[in-house]
Amino acid sequence: MTDKYTQFVSRGIGKDVARKLGLPQPAVLRRYQPGQPLVPGPVLVQGTSTGADELAPALLSWDLDVRRHAVPREKLGAIILVLDELDGPEDLERPVLAAAASVRDLATGARVVTVSLTPASAPGPAAAAARQGVDGLLRSLAKELRAGATANGIMLADGVTTTSPSTLAALRFFLSGRSAFVDGQLLTVTSDEGKLPADPEKPLAGKVAVVTGAARGIGAAIARTLHRDGAILVVVDVPAAGDHLAAVANEVKGTALQLDITREDAGRRIIDHAVARHGRLDIVVHNAGITRDKLLANMDQGRWSSVIGVNIEAQLRINEALLASEHFRKSPRIVSVASTSGIAGNRGQTNYAASKGGVMGMVRATAPLLADHHGSINAVAPGFIETEMTARIPFATREIARRLNSLQQGGQPGDVAEAIAFLASDAAGGISGEVLRVCGQNLVGA
Ligand code: NAI
Repeated sequence: MTDKYTQFVSRGIGKDVARKLGLPQPAVLRRYQPGQPLVPGPVLVQGTSTGADELAPALLSWDLDVRRHAVPREKLGAIILVLDELDGPEDLERPVLAAAASVRDLATGARVVTVSLTPASAPGPAAAAARQGVDGLLRSLAKELRAGATANGIMLADGVTTTSPSTLAALRFFLSGRSAFVDGQLLTVTSDEGKLPADPEKPLAGKVAVVTGAARGIGAAIARTLHRDGAILVVVDVPAAGDHLAAVANEVKGTALQLDITREDAGRRIIDHAVARHGRLDIVVHNAGITRDKLLANMDQGRWSSVIGVNIEAQLRINEALLASEHFRKSPRIVSVASTSGIAGNRGQTNYAASKGGVMGMVRATAPLLADHHGSINAVAPGFIETEMTARIPFATREIARRLNSLQQGGQPGDVAEAIAFLASDAAGGISGEVLRVCGQNLVGA
């Protein structure tokens, strides 16, 4: 579905009208295209720590134009603010105000990325205060940026450095057009696991990936993006969606598996199909999901149980089969689609939000179970995404919902797919049990 308003106010008379009336003026976002430069200008690495010193050469190897000091009035593609040596809140002032002077020099579609340590592992209250302070600082800055620029943060757990594989992978993701609709988010790198790809343009080369609910919408976009990144696809959907599923399978040169994921034997059938047709199974994306909205006062058993059944119980059952399978032990990846409804709540969606909150709880608890095999499991929580599901929302409600984020627009299915492709990669192996929101920084629910 297209957002005609954003197109109208992005040029000519529409732009003038919106400016005069003070209406929202969403920017056309800088989205990834193969071969495009990673960032739209030089990258300023701010910070005087060893971590900052070590990061700068790593960025040079990506052919970036790296600065350690700002050049007055030079347009910047990104600011990376390394804050990994904070002993107390007073330590924020110098590096943050040094970076502040460069914020107005950010180019259209630029990026700000903070790199800091998790408050969870702070040695005492003052360090914890400073580290948690980065969270508030980052989320506020994201709300101040304009012209499609975003701000996101990477938090390092104990034992993780600024040059650990998944720190670099997360940095590359946040800098690139792949993260266009991710804004105001902090992602924790939980371990030193992960392996950088030989070819950054084909990070999933040779991997066999299963995507559920892939006949349309976000699932079809995930299949296309994983295919673009080099994966071999198994696309899954209900038999009733068989024609659309076959079309997606053809497009991505993969195979189709018609399967209702709520079947008891769904996990075994997915594994058997992947191994029989493609010889292995590396990635499972739990995308299939349904809504059956009703206020709780009017909720019936059918609406409740179908939503819980598809959105979370099926994932739990399939994961059990995956964890027990000898075919899912070579750095396996699971990525589940949650929703910001499961974080902030949404009127009329108690059943859906319970299921999506459940996905996030499941992901956290499953992460340790995959660690022995260098595996990871994470969730992506989309906000308002332009799909058939959101096209059904009445016009006025839809128009409000899609503007209520820092980027003042809905995301595209491909934006969710990019986050999933990143978390499914070998390089993201040091990120597990986490939830990454793709919501343009929804103003509701943080
Ligand atoms: P959609 O309704 O367009 O597509 C969902 C697909 O899942 C359909 O092809 C459907 O046939 C399939 N499916 C449903 N039940 C199934 C079952 N039992 N077995 C196998 N396949 C089944 O939905 P959309 O918008 O593409 O959403 C995809 C995921 O993203 C869902 O989990 C949804 O909850 C989530 N999401 C979507 C948002 C949005 O704004 N569109 C926002 C937040 C989350």
